[in-house]
Amino acid sequence: MKIVLIGAAGGIGQALALLLKNYLPEGSCLALYDIAPITPGLAIDLSHIPTWVAVTGYTGKDITVALEGADIVLIAAGAARKVGMDRADLFNINADIIKYLAEKIAGACPEACIGVITNPINSIVPVMAGMLKKFCAYDKKRLFGITTLDVIRSEVFVSRLKNKDPNSINITVIGGHSAVTILPLLSQIQHVKLTDEEIEALTRRIQNAGTEVVEAKVCGGSATLSMGQAACRFCLALVKAIQGESNVIECAYVEGYSEYAPFFAQPVKLGKEGIETTLGYGNLSSYEAIALDSMLRALNDDISIGINFVNNHQ
Ligand code: LMR
Repeated sequence: MKIVLIGAAGGIGQALALLLKNYLPEGSCLALYDIAPITPGLAIDLSHIPTWVAVTGYTGKDITVALEGADIVLIAAGAARKVGMDRADLFNINADIIKYLAEKIAGACPEACIGVITNPINSIVPVMAGMLKKFCAYDKKRLFGITTLDVIRSEVFVSRLKNKDPNSINITVIGGHSAVTILPLLSQIQHVKLTDEEIEALTRRIQNAGTEVVEAKVCGGSATLSMGQAACRFCLALVKAIQGESNVIECAYVEGYSEYAPFFAQPVKLGKEGIETTLGYGNLSSYEAIALDSMLRALNDDISIGINFVNNHQ
């Protein structure tokens, strides 16, 4: 199994690379790519950690070499937001990077599963999808916006409030990955009862959690360590599914499976070729149904930004 991590020298990339070196199954190959010249050195640094995961590092023009033979490509490349910015403010710079990467992936490893971490996910995943379509290398079963950070935040915040083990709680988060488009389904958590007030306060906190980190880091950017952990969880789930494990379920932002929007975060069952099937998420409470209804305009606007970018780059 070959996993390629693009944007490996950034804050998320380095954390994610360390986690993957430690937790990928024995015999995996981890290829790191970044435009930063430090990247081959990061690979050597990681290679001194005693696990049976082979690490290689590439920079500059070697992106095609890095991508060749990839089973999974994780994309953490691009700018991160700073205090006072929205995720949407990153679109112009990051969309150009994604356009470039789509062409490279289409040429080097068109069959790979792709996990996108780069923000704004709501608009960037449509850019990747549209560009891959242009290069005739698109399969909706294989493209994922990684929204696992919203899931782990939800699980941690609820478990802290109720004094539970965070690993005993599973929470579905639907919609997108920005502000009101993040909708944790807190009414559905097994064995945890939350009051209406708790649900409202937790929902707001989960929706705002990225900004909470950006503000706390002052001028230091956005979440890197928790995002690395979240992306690692998603990647390991995908690896297990590709290797034949059954019943592997994660939430992700995917195209073409929702009646609400062309791209939508929802629970997906992963299999050997990416998405095996999508899963329902039960009945929403009236609070959740209203929140879903009122996010759709923002989500569809975000998606249109990505689709328009693709249409303007024929
Ligand atoms: C997050 O949710 O922490 C990330 O999307 C980074 C950000 O800009 O908030």
